[in-house]
Amino acid sequence: MASQTSCVRVALSDRAYDIQIGAGLLATAGEFVGCCAAAKHYVVITDGNVGPRFADALCESFASLEDARLDVLSFTAGEASKNIGSMQRLWEQMLEIGADRSTVVIALGGGVVGDMAGFAAATFTRGLPFVQIPTTLLADVDSSVGGKVGVNLPGGKNMVGAFWQPQGVLIDTDLLASLPDREYKAGLAEVVKYGVILDEAFFAYLEGCVAPLLARDPAVLRQVISRCCQLKAEVVVADEREETGVRAVLNYGHTFCHALETVTEYRRFLHGEAVSLGMLCASRLAEDLGRVERRVTARQSDLLQAIGLPIEVPKLDGDALTAAMLKDKKTRHGKLRFVLPTCIGHVDVVDGVSPDRAKKAWWPK
Ligand SMILES: NC(=O)c1ccc[n+]([C@@H]2O[C@H](COP(=O)([O-])OP(=O)(O)OC[C@H]3O[C@@H](n4cnc5c(N)ncnc54)[C@H](O)[C@@H]3O)[C@@H](O)[C@H]2O)c1
Ligand SMILES: [Zn+2]
Repeated sequence: MASQTSCVRVALSDRAYDIQIGAGLLATAGEFVGCCAAAKHYVVITDGNVGPRFADALCESFASLEDARLDVLSFTAGEASKNIGSMQRLWEQMLEIGADRSTVVIALGGGVVGDMAGFAAATFTRGLPFVQIPTTLLADVDSSVGGKVGVNLPGGKNMVGAFWQPQGVLIDTDLLASLPDREYKAGLAEVVKYGVILDEAFFAYLEGCVAPLLARDPAVLRQVISRCCQLKAEVVVADEREETGVRAVLNYGHTFCHALETVTEYRRFLHGEAVSLGMLCASRLAEDLGRVERRVTARQSDLLQAIGLPIEVPKLDGDALTAAMLKDKKTRHGKLRFVLPTCIGHVDVVDGVSPDRAKKAWWPK
């Protein structure tokens, strides 16, 4: 049973929801889902790694809910499944098992499952309620909160999707125990990002607790995940659909990151590893533009290195990286937009940076 639970409210008026965070919470999933999205029929969507580990425990937690029927649908784990072909199979399976407008979808998995299940929920019979039960650190602190759901196209990541908020998010920190080390550390890059963009005190806290964080200490995890969810919730409430520029701060490091991912064909780096490198590039660019002091970059680099994330961009074709940046869906009229720090805890959105200027930031002088 849960020792201590934190709760973060995403205060989106009629689409408001709670995020519960704690150790052992999967056992309470039935109760949680019964409160925020009561139904007679639930479809659990998961993947081939997560389903065998946690789907039974999730289903057992519904045992006390009388006449609730659960079906579990699973697809092959990995980013390669996040496409419209797999989505069509999910839609057809949902039809076969008799899902209808009174069904509730439960996403059980990492960001791929969350994005797929969320998009299935947003679209099947024009929209079903859904609940997120994330199982990776990246999904805990980022993808399960905020309502962005969707799939990739061959020509572009996350190109088809919707804003579709969940009815609730249940984060059981115990589920992270089986996450491979590399995936876990990649999630920590997004954690560090929150400190840089919004919260100096949180960044300093992270600097002081690298060892327990790497040991996946439950109390530290609850603290860290809660703070990240709180920060993300505030940003999402201020700019739910990325219209005013407030939500753009979450893209810190991501213009460089996406170019790295594209040029290396998504094979060389996990997303969080590319975020680690991307944040350092953005910080160097901010230095070059006279917006930030060098020690701000050094502090980020030290923390990322202590966590075991990459801090040096390997030798790659600079022109190919620039070309990839110019193709980014957030680029406008050949000028680049970056989220750049002024200090630890604050960033600005800076428009009109020339590609040549950006190119200098890949490698330190
Ligand atoms: N919607 C958003 O706002 C948003 C934000 C950030 C990222 N994303 C998306 O999230 C996806 C990446 O998410 P991810 O990093 O969680 O990847 P993922 O879902 O592919 O999970 C990574 C791997 O870990 C496995 N796994 C998951 N939980 C596990 C556990 N507890 N134990 C053992 N193995 C486990 C998965 O099966 C998978 O093989 C990308 O598609 C990205 O576009 C979405
Ligand atoms: Zn990211």
